[in-house]
Amino acid sequence: MASQTVPVEVKSETKSEEKLIPINVMDRRYMVPENLTIMKALEYAGYQLTRGCGCRGGICGACGTVYRMPDSHRIEVALACQTIVKEEMFLSQIPFFPRNKAIYDLYEIEPEQSTLSEFYPEIFKCIGCGTCTRSCPQDIEVMDYVAYAIRGEIQKVAELSFDCVMCGLCIARCPAEEAQPLVAILARRIYGKHIAPKAKHLSDRVTQIENGHFDKSLEDLMKFDAEKLKELYVKREKESELPDPDWEPEDKSHL
Ligand code: SF4
Ligand code: SF4
Ligand code: FES
Repeated sequence: MASQTVPVEVKSETKSEEKLIPINVMDRRYMVPENLTIMKALEYAGYQLTRGCGCRGGICGACGTVYRMPDSHRIEVALACQTIVKEEMFLSQIPFFPRNKAIYDLYEIEPEQSTLSEFYPEIFKCIGCGTCTRSCPQDIEVMDYVAYAIRGEIQKVAELSFDCVMCGLCIARCPAEEAQPLVAILARRIYGKHIAPKAKHLSDRVTQIENGHFDKSLEDLMKFDAEKLKELYVKREKESELPDPDWEPEDKSHL
């Protein structure tokens, strides 16, 4: 494949001590610093990322990338913002992969054994190949959560898929054309809304907010300029790093 590529000029802002390595983006060859993430290398090469780029911190899943190394038949996957370039990699981004999303009203859903399969009946087409698990840049046991979805174990699906960033790379590789992350997010929503024990302190706080308990404090904050807000933020009381169930702030005027 390397012979198909077209060498191009690189930008001249390279620091003299930086080692440049070749990478191939959509079959064009670029020389980029070896210590850059794929995302930064794309920008270094001159791409302006308006899609396939979001949080830059491994959270939003917008930067799904596939690549191959010249000496391997394997298709590798990565989040472009989290993965350092490799010499001679051939890569392309897949910021979105089509998937059919079920429409539902979470308040109306009953958390039954058949709920996930009613919204996503295609889960029964899974052939257990494990490609989704091998395709996941988050190292999630995707095939296992699909198996739990088939069995209607909503809590298990929610727990196993907790680190999913919705990058869609598992969808792109699935021979059964599943939409795994959509099944998983439905499970997490159902679990959060209907199954997980309710936290009393959270509902108490929501009630306080709804009753306008914090309106005055917020109005006061709105009057400050940016510098004052920064100062207040830096001086704020913080919980200790180690969990302390008895911790309370000294200033309780905002509780
Ligand atoms: S890639 Fe598709 S068919 Fe294969 S295990 Fe995953 S969900 Fe099932
Ligand atoms: S489960 Fe699928 S969508 Fe979620 S992080 Fe893994 S590959 Fe991406
Ligand atoms: S840009 Fe958000 S995960 Fe990479």
